[in-house]
Amino acid sequence: MEKFRIGIIGAGHIAEKMAATIAGMDNAEAYAVASRELGKARDFADRWGFTKAYGSYEELADDPLVELIYVATPHSLHHRHVMMCLEKGKPVLCEKAFMLNASEAKEAIGLARSRGVFLAEAIWTRYMPSRRYIKKIIDSGEIGVPSLLTAHLSYPVSHKERIIRPELGGGALLDLGVYCINFALMNFGDDISGITSVCTKSETGMDMTDNITIAYRDGRTAVLTSSALCADDRQGIIRGNKGYIVVDNINNPLHIELYDRSHELVRTYDMPPQITGFEYEVQACMDAIKAGKTEPEAMPHSEITKVMEIMDSLRADWGVRFPGEEKQHSCTE
Ligand SMILES: NC(=O)c1ccc[n+]([C@@H]2O[C@H](COP(=O)([O-])OP(=O)(O)OC[C@H]3O[C@@H](n4cnc5c(N)ncnc54)[C@H](OP(=O)(O)O)[C@@H]3O)[C@@H](O)[C@H]2O)c1
Repeated sequence: MEKFRIGIIGAGHIAEKMAATIAGMDNAEAYAVASRELGKARDFADRWGFTKAYGSYEELADDPLVELIYVATPHSLHHRHVMMCLEKGKPVLCEKAFMLNASEAKEAIGLARSRGVFLAEAIWTRYMPSRRYIKKIIDSGEIGVPSLLTAHLSYPVSHKERIIRPELGGGALLDLGVYCINFALMNFGDDISGITSVCTKSETGMDMTDNITIAYRDGRTAVLTSSALCADDRQGIIRGNKGYIVVDNINNPLHIELYDRSHELVRTYDMPPQITGFEYEVQACMDAIKAGKTEPEAMPHSEITKVMEIMDSLRADWGVRFPGEEKQHSCTE
């Protein structure tokens, strides 16, 4: 079988997981990896069986054989690296959070569209089978009319440079809260009437613990919490008047439980075995590129922009700014 040649930019933590994913897929090839240091790229390539190792990201993007580039650098560098790949006509799968803000996202999406080049966000939960299961349960009416959604995602990651440093696009929102917002939008949509929120900040001015409440025009509510300071249950719960759905966990949903209004477990849904869970986003990209599309169906550009706009408005309320952003209105300062 002809394999799809994948290149990785940035040989860090999440690149390792992508390499393990590609190693487990029979239709994707570990073709090239690029690091700012050639030795690091060579070491990564040797460990994961990549054919090419490059000492600069540009060299990888110039390789005519690369068919999809996975951008696995810190948030503040996504825009620069994605634009560089798109300029060279290379399809891109960029890690979450897609960019620092909606303005960067729109510029990259605009370039992808004008050049007819594929561009996607690696928000893996959007591409997973769990999404279909949850929709099916809600559509079946078994929980009745859904009215309240909660989603929690926290990890004690505030020691990491890319979480604490403004110049790397730090904060809990872009790293963790983005999953909660996606969980709300996937299940309750975006007909939002208002958002209230509060965050606490690090000494460096980045949001560390976020509490977000989204009110929907039809009366539904989503309550989202995320923190870079603590561990938590990572649960998503969708509640209706006849029962509720518990998703474990919203970062990688593997089990979904359906309860009735008396708290009796009605059914458990176990998701199919996975390599790492990243294979779904990779497959979606390969399928879309082969079909000549510029975006994947599971996470269209319009949804990427919506999520970025919500995160922009939250950060504006909190006074959390990244270097280079214009001074935003702040309610907390
Ligand atoms: N989907 C998920 O489950 C998941 C989980 C964790 C993280 N992520 C996302 O993946 C992206 C990277 O996160 P990570 O945890 O892999 O970060 P990381 O371990 O810090 O790796 C980031 C890599 O980016 C490269 N880089 C380029 N310029 C850099 C700079 N100025 N400072 C630091 N690194 C720089 C480095 O690679 P070289 O030295 O090789 O050039 C570095 O190893 C982020 O967008 C993050 O949100 C996703």
